[in-house]
Amino acid sequence: MSIHKSDIKKITTHQLQAMKDRGEKISMLTAYDFSMASLIDDAGVDIILVGDSASNVMAGHETTLPITLDQMIYHASSVVRAVKRAFVVVDIPFGSYQGNSSEALRSVIRVMKESGAHSVKMEGGAEIKESIIRVLSAGVPVMGHLGLTPQSIYKFGTYSVRAKEDEEAEKLVADAKLLEACGCFGIVLEKIPAELAKRVAEEVNIPIIGIGAGPHVDGQVLVMHDMLGITTEFKPRFLRQYADLGSTIKSAVASYVKDVKDRDFPSDKESY
Ligand code: KIV
Repeated sequence: MSIHKSDIKKITTHQLQAMKDRGEKISMLTAYDFSMASLIDDAGVDIILVGDSASNVMAGHETTLPITLDQMIYHASSVVRAVKRAFVVVDIPFGSYQGNSSEALRSVIRVMKESGAHSVKMEGGAEIKESIIRVLSAGVPVMGHLGLTPQSIYKFGTYSVRAKEDEEAEKLVADAKLLEACGCFGIVLEKIPAELAKRVAEEVNIPIIGIGAGPHVDGQVLVMHDMLGITTEFKPRFLRQYADLGSTIKSAVASYVKDVKDRDFPSDKESY
């Protein structure tokens, strides 16, 4: 019997909240294309993030800034076509929501209409409050993103740990509470001290998903290409590499090249 999308219980924001409430950890990974999204959805990941890290891992840019709304919609629609169970979150890229709340709403509506995704993620706290409220009032679930926010890399200057000092830590806690009060369904905390992330997860009732934020949060997210060992030059302390696909792919391709050169491929059995 074939499995229809409708036979599978899909993850919703309500289920994510229930997971936090009962202490079940939430798993989240990035994906940017149909084939990989299909694999990680089948493997049981709860949230798939179509991250603007596509700018780095798919397009080879140094930062997430260059990726466009059209490119994010292309990646998101490819992922959505693959997914049967996971909740799909799409990053709204730099330059398509910071201007004002009308611009934010226009960008988000394009993502939701043209990709079929389930929700969006935007970086920042009080500075983008109006936009978050406007998007939420249109019925679109919003995930926040605080701590190291890569779209602001030129303001920070480096990718080092954020909110180590009291002032920045207090602003982060206040921003997390604000995002909860606005109605966000969850928050990503990137590269902040584990104790601060623990405090946020305890003081805020919505799911807190960490990347480089220690073990005391409600779930974890990693960039899929990093955890599978496809990207090899990026090795931050928080990254656990679960496979060495980079080496596997290179050695498979080298074998193929050799077989072609040696006239070993295709054989009679592989020909018509
Ligand atoms: O774009 C992305 O992959 C992200 C994660 C690092 C959380 O925002």
